[in-house]
Formats: sequence, C-alpha cells, structure tokens
Amino acid sequence: MENLFYDIDLEKVPKHIAIIMDGNGRWAKSKMMPRTFGHKAGVETIRKVVKECSRLGVGYLTLYAFSTENWKRPKEEVSALMTLLVSYLRKELDELHKNNVKILTIGDITKLPEPCVIELNKSIEKTKDNDGLVLSLALNYGGRADIIESIKSIALDVRDERLNISDIDEDLFSSYLSTKSIIDPDLVIRTSGEQRLSNFLLWEVAYSEFYYTDIHWPDFDEKELQKSIYSYQKRDRRFGGIK
Ligand code: FPP
Repeated sequence: MENLFYDIDLEKVPKHIAIIMDGNGRWAKSKMMPRTFGHKAGVETIRKVVKECSRLGVGYLTLYAFSTENWKRPKEEVSALMTLLVSYLRKELDELHKNNVKILTIGDITKLPEPCVIELNKSIEKTKDNDGLVLSLALNYGGRADIIESIKSIALDVRDERLNISDIDEDLFSSYLSTKSIIDPDLVIRTSGEQRLSNFLLWEVAYSEFYYTDIHWPDFDEKELQKSIYSYQKRDRRFGGIK
C-alpha cells in the first residue's frame, strides 16, 4: 500500500477507532484566530481521517463531535458547530456514499437544530445499505445519558412484561445503548494533550486501548492516525486474561 509512514500490519488494524477530537480552540488561539476558525480546520481533519480509515480497512470510526455538555458553550460557537455539521454533510455526502461509507449517529439528535436533523436523516437514509466504513457521529451524546436512557427502556420493558429481570446481562444491556449496532472500540484516540474520557462511550471502552497525543485536532492527519495504529499494534491486549 502507498503512503504508509509506519510499519503497520494491515491484517491487524483496529476494527473500531473512536476519537475525541480536541484542541480546535487552542489551535485557533495559537494563530490568533477565532475558535470557529479552529472548528473549520477540524472539519478538514475529519475529511482526511474518514478517508484514511476507509483506505486502511478500519471497520468503524466514531467521532465525538458534540457532547451533552457542549451546549454550555457560547451560543455563537454552538451555532457555528451546527452550521459546520450541515455544510460537511451537504458537501461530503455524495463522496462518502461513493466510498461506501455508512453514516450513523449516537446521542439524542432530536434536540439539534432542524437543518442538522434533516441532513443527518438524509445521510443515514442514503448510506444505510453501504457496507464499508461505519462512520458514527456522536452528537448531543453523553455516555452517562446513554446509560440512563437504556436503564429507563429496560425498566419499561420489565414493567410491561416484555423482559424478565433474569434476562438482563451485559449483552442485553449493550443492545439498549445507542451504540447497539457498533462493536466496542479497540482504540480510543484523544488529541491535544488532555488525558480524560469526558463522558465518551463509558460502557463501551471497558477493554479499549487509549492513545493520547499533544497534537491539536486540526494538525492531526493521515500520518498521525497511522502512528496511533502503529502504537496500538505494539500493545499486548489481554482482556483480563493472561498470555
Ligand atoms: C474540540 O475542540 C472540538 C469540538 C468540541 C467539536 C468538534 C467538531 C467539529 C470539528 C466540527 C463539526 C462536526 C462535524 C461532524 C462536521 P475544542 O473547541 O474543545 O478545543 P479547545 O479544547 O482547544 O478549546
């Protein structure tokens, strides 16, 4: 394969990579530009990373695009992020579809502005039969909120006798989460130096490998992605067992 910067074993790329795309604001600040300039540059990185994941044969890519806590940001910034999401989908949908990418969302998208909901539903519908990379956008997503929603649904199903308490196990619980059609992440990447999970995929990361880099999201690229995969492949995953 061309343009491999690290000695990656293409037979063993992580099946699911989840990314906390951090540092757009700091990147922009370092250039004395407004935060939204950083988010715009961040969308360019999304484009590159989606393509590279497809090319390398990653099965699932999940991007933390907007958390349940991100509503606390100034409303101009929230609305800029929503506008970027709409323009990304409008511009990229045909290309994503051509590349066999299947678009999904996790989180409660019904609370997003209407144009976002419309574009997202259109994208999900158009790409629903694709069997290439599954691109999941976490939008208005919070790991705790997702767990609480599952618990409520399970409680209702028990109350209405669709489910017995003895049926509740880890697999059943997973099937109530908004990540039900996505396998657990093998690798979680966080850019920009912070080493925390910030309410991302709490249940799903039980056995994930973590990779942190100081690079801000707008500077992350194909080479950095490959570096994270290379680092992942050097690790010894035991899933609680011994080797
Ligand atoms: C983190 O930077 C980034 C975000 C909160 C949003 C990521 C969203 C996009 C790149 C664009 C919209 C989404 C899509 C799917 C097109 P930060 O603002 O937290 O940076 P800072 O920590 O340096 O302030």
